[in-house]
Amino acid sequence: MDYQGLIEEVYHEVQAENLKGKVADYIPEIANVDPNQFGIALVDLKGNVYGVGDHQVPFSIQSISKVHTLTMVFNVFNTKLWSRVNVEPSGDPFNSIAQLEYEKGIPRNPFINAGALVITDALCSKFENPIDQLSEFINELAGETCVKINPDVMNSEKNHGERNTALAYFLKSYKNFNNPIEEVLNVYFSQCAIEMSCVDLAKSFSFLANDGFSIFADRQILSESSARRINALMLTCGFYDEAGEFAYRVGLPGKSGVGGGVAAVMPHKFSIAVWSPELNEKGNSIKSIRALELLTDKLSFSLF
Ligand code: DON
Repeated sequence: MDYQGLIEEVYHEVQAENLKGKVADYIPEIANVDPNQFGIALVDLKGNVYGVGDHQVPFSIQSISKVHTLTMVFNVFNTKLWSRVNVEPSGDPFNSIAQLEYEKGIPRNPFINAGALVITDALCSKFENPIDQLSEFINELAGETCVKINPDVMNSEKNHGERNTALAYFLKSYKNFNNPIEEVLNVYFSQCAIEMSCVDLAKSFSFLANDGFSIFADRQILSESSARRINALMLTCGFYDEAGEFAYRVGLPGKSGVGGGVAAVMPHKFSIAVWSPELNEKGNSIKSIRALELLTDKLSFSLF
């Protein structure tokens, strides 16, 4: 398979479409990025890296970090986790608080903000230095010291963190939060402020395409069955109230972030990261989703 040729073709076709969206502006520091950037990196299971466009430029991975934190706590808590957070698509925006009340403080899934806060709370319970250990973990997955936490993005988010703070207090009122709220929010805002390139992000997702084994870390990160479950969650919940549309158009397990990144996997074939800052009204990158749609259309194989 000529992956380099394929992603270049996709890149040029998407660029020609001249799609327009809006950079996320509720985190002011993120609104400062050049909206025209666009990159794709694909990593096959031999560790070959293919890239086009701005694939080496670090960007704010935002919610994509929720996959990394979930992976870290998955092994530690195993099935116990699922008494605190569900595994159903929410059909609501990522920062919605509505379901939390009538579902008694159990978030629908670990990728909406409420669920991710529960996961980060669990991370804080089990890891002494959660931010450092998360950074080390992602570096290990990428086989590279690549993780940087952007303090300006982190502070910007903290200063505009009313929604996430409200979600955390709400969870606490249902006794689904064990650590001090400020401490957990600091870790959450730091994980969202991680910057990495498409290349390093695709490498950090490679184990999910490879039955839980990372060729870059050279170890089994999760069991085959746990990796399969994270992929199932990404397929059903990775794009919030656009998860159905992403499954329909692209058909890959993936996770988006409001920085404009999308990381996805084709199990047993490759992992891929695409980045372009302009978002649609659901908070997902317009060009990144279009690129993945074209890519899976052009491939001679599919998940389905
Ligand atoms: O907590 C937030 O609102 C952001 N730090 C992350 C949201 C996000 O990336 C949603 N993804 N599409």
